[in-house]
Amino acid sequence: MSMVHTPRRQSIFYRHPLLYDLGIHFLYLNRLKILKEIVGHDMNVFEPACGFGRMKKYLHEDCVYSGIDLNEKFVSFGRKKNRNINVGDILKKENYSPADIILLCDILHHLQMPEIHCLFRIAGKFAKKIVIIEPTFVALAAKKNTFSHLLGKLMTRVDSDGFNEITHWMSREEYHDLFVSLNADIPILNMTIRHHYYHDFVEIVLA
Ligand SMILES: C[S@@+](CC[C@H](N)C(=O)[O-])C[C@H]1O[C@@H](n2cnc3c(N)ncnc32)[C@H](O)[C@@H]1O
Repeated sequence: MSMVHTPRRQSIFYRHPLLYDLGIHFLYLNRLKILKEIVGHDMNVFEPACGFGRMKKYLHEDCVYSGIDLNEKFVSFGRKKNRNINVGDILKKENYSPADIILLCDILHHLQMPEIHCLFRIAGKFAKKIVIIEPTFVALAAKKNTFSHLLGKLMTRVDSDGFNEITHWMSREEYHDLFVSLNADIPILNMTIRHHYYHDFVEIVLA
């Protein structure tokens, strides 16, 4: 399945990689350090929707990192820092390279459900393991009250990547149901979901 990406409003954070880097630094602080433990040593890691490749610094030095993203400014910013990343759509399988691990960080909440399932069907063909990182604090915007509604609108504006429209913020239950439903897309041998400082870290070992 291939999706067409019509240009959409892009928030200031996605127009200025340095601003995104600063914002994300305060959002995550040092909480991604756990990724080294999850990924391990000597792994070939491919990241669809890699932004400017900031996740490379959370991997062991002996890991090989590459990625693709549609944001040309982000990709050229990352390439200047010698990161092996390219412009490419994550919903097209010809943009993928085989890897030990496919990393999906902060991308699922940008996509619609059919795109998420398409992404996993592709990713499942290229790796032995998929690691997902999703912010679970977004569930605050999924509640049915005025504060959540306004927060959701604000988060949608701030997180507009220019390619997708966020139309729904998922609750913890919806995230859980989504992870379990992936069984229909990819052959899952084992799945571990850990909640770590307002983020879900999901490790999926493929059969
Ligand atoms: C929240 S950012 C996450 C970037 C990176 N994973 C990180 O954690 O820093 C989401 C990224 O997804 C990219 N993106 C969204 N849809 C995409 C698509 N169909 N193909 C490639 N990149 C996409 C956006 O350009 C944006 O850089």
